Amino acid sequence: MKLFGTMEINEEGHLVIGKCDTVDLAEEYGTPLYIMDEQLIRDRCRLFRENFKSEDIKTEVIYASKAFLTLAMCRLIEEEGLSLDVVSGGELYTALKAGFPAHRIHMHGNNKSREELVMAIEAGVGRIIVDNRYELDLIEDICKSLDKRACILLRLNPGIEADTHDYIKTTKNDSKFGESIYDENIFHIINRIIKSPYIDLKGFHSHIGSQIFQEETYYELINIMLDFAKKASQVCGIRVEELNLGGGFGVYYAKGDKPFELEVFLKNILEKVKNKSGSLGIDIPKLMIEPGRTIVANAGTTLYRVGTVKKTYGGKNYVFIDGGMNDNPRTSLYDAQYEAALANRMDEEGQNVYTITGKCCESGDIIVKNVSLPNPRVGDIVAVSTTGAYNYSMSSNYNRLPRPAVVFVKDGKSRCVVKRETYEDIIRNDI
Ligand code: LLP
Repeated sequence: MKLFGTMEINEEGHLVIGKCDTVDLAEEYGTPLYIMDEQLIRDRCRLFRENFKSEDIKTEVIYASKAFLTLAMCRLIEEEGLSLDVVSGGELYTALKAGFPAHRIHMHGNNKSREELVMAIEAGVGRIIVDNRYELDLIEDICKSLDKRACILLRLNPGIEADTHDYIKTTKNDSKFGESIYDENIFHIINRIIKSPYIDLKGFHSHIGSQIFQEETYYELINIMLDFAKKASQVCGIRVEELNLGGGFGVYYAKGDKPFELEVFLKNILEKVKNKSGSLGIDIPKLMIEPGRTIVANAGTTLYRVGTVKKTYGGKNYVFIDGGMNDNPRTSLYDAQYEAALANRMDEEGQNVYTITGKCCESGDIIVKNVSLPNPRVGDIVAVSTTGAYNYSMSSNYNRLPRPAVVFVKDGKSRCVVKRETYEDIIRNDI
């Protein structure tokens, strides 16, 4: 298992994160348990802030909170000076409850409800990212009744197919998000927006997908979006003040994953935008990006306890753990690859190849396929790395399993930021 951030192995052969022995954490908080390396999250935020800046272009780094959001995470993002992308009333509610400044919140959603939009506009969110033409009437109507103006970005689909899992591509011509730049009505839509007394069009947004390793796809995006910005300014007479290029930067999960070097990439993006807009003779005063996974994925580790080790008649070695696809659905959903180790036996060599599977009543309930481990024993602690993004946030109560607790670790101290669910929580809304 590759070690990230503050991960180390101590003399006892235990996995240590944030100077906390994970075996002790499993004991103290129980398993399954999500551990988040707080320093690594902060370092990631700083890396983005320090490298995504330029003298010529204003910049904003907006954390895509769907990757991982809790009240504590909102406060951390606030402290690190990033903005926040929310995609639902629930994410917005969490941010507002945490006291996150509304003007730094960007409201997304391809099917925002009236209630969600009222909540966002009343709170005074900084930007609403409008997905489609049908949303405009609703926003106007709400602004009229609240006597407010909404600052928006229009989400565009530039028709780029990123090289990633089909479920997380977002700009194929048939993707559900945004308005296509090739749509014959695209300039009518823009004209309709700029005529509205209630809507202030600040610029455009595009997000091409997630877990992307090809830098060139982003450079292609820049070229297409800037060509479009020029055309829109010519046809509609607008000034594109802001461009949001979305997120999607790939991270390391397992062998074969080759994330690009963010420091270089971020500088390159700014350079490309500057050069391209210069050659087109247009000015893009502000550039935004929305990283989610890159901020939190490597900071997360899930701890499980081994309940049984089973060899099937067909010859497969299973390690049964006390969690499952309810706390990490990514392997069954996207065939995601993970690395794992025994947190209490990090100094031992792998002896056999195992499949780590959970408690859920599905054969697809697999967390890690084919991982080499020292022969696991009942009671060992399995650590699965890079579970910080889209694990807790995509967890469920399938099979009425309570969700694990979330613990932040830093400098030898741990703090629980989300309590473990109880059986009482499971029936809370049952009538
Ligand atoms: N901006 C927008 C508009 C998005 O839809 C997303 C992710 C992001 C930014 C952040 O992308 P990131 O930097 O995290 O890749 N559940 C899937 C990922 C879904 C991503 C959804 N949108 C997974 O577990 O792989």
